[in-house]
Amino acid sequence: VPVSAVLPAGGSGERLGGATPKQFCAVQGRPLVSYAVRAMERISWISDIIVVVSPENIETMKTIIEKFGHKRVTVVEGGITRHRSIFNGLKVFAEKEFSSHLLQKPEVVIIHDAVRPFVEEDILSKVVMAAKEHGAAGAIRPLVSTVVASAADGCLDHSLERARYRASEMPQAFLFDVIYEAYQQCTDYDLDYGTECLHLALKYCKTNAKLVEGTADLWKVTYKRDLYAAESIIKDNLS
Ligand code: C5P
Repeated sequence: VPVSAVLPAGGSGERLGGATPKQFCAVQGRPLVSYAVRAMERISWISDIIVVVSPENIETMKTIIEKFGHKRVTVVEGGITRHRSIFNGLKVFAEKEFSSHLLQKPEVVIIHDAVRPFVEEDILSKVVMAAKEHGAAGAIRPLVSTVVASAADGCLDHSLERARYRASEMPQAFLFDVIYEAYQQCTDYDLDYGTECLHLALKYCKTNAKLVEGTADLWKVTYKRDLYAAESIIKDNLS
């Protein structure tokens, strides 16, 4: 079954601080994005790897591909939000005018953040298998913190029962036709303010997503201290 991957890497990394977006920060001599690309590339059953970057980073990304010898990678220009970037990545498989060489449309597409460097084959194959069966699937983790909502006066309005909720992580996988249809149907409000792909599949295609327990190493590098954590995991794996 043809499976391909879209890696959104078009963010500005504001929460990390500093001039370089986190996906391009070097960790043990290799930009963060290169770890996620390598993780996909090592898996023989993944055909094409689409990396979506903001227009000003296209050349940087092409240099990384060259320097680290990445194969099967196509660089695509992103949008102003994560959803818009992912939609641009998907278009490469579906719309001729968006790609100089239209790539083969996969049956299943994996979506994985470029800033989650330690994704493994086990979870990727679990979400792909579940997507084949259900139409959509995504990795989840137990919540570390309790989620609260504040009232207009800034005081606690209510809190959620922590054990009943999960954090939605990546990777996620979809039947290509389901997620592409969802992106085509969804509103500008969804594209600008939403972040959850599984939700679009449910809302616009009535596709129930299977939730798959992931490992702690799927966490998203967000703050500067996460770069140090990533570095020590890589060092541990080397020794
Ligand atoms: O901002 P957040 O941490 O949710 O970003 C998750 C992923 O989405 C990152 O890999 C980031 O580079 C990507 N992204 C994108 N285009 C945007 C914003 C974020 O590809 N406009």
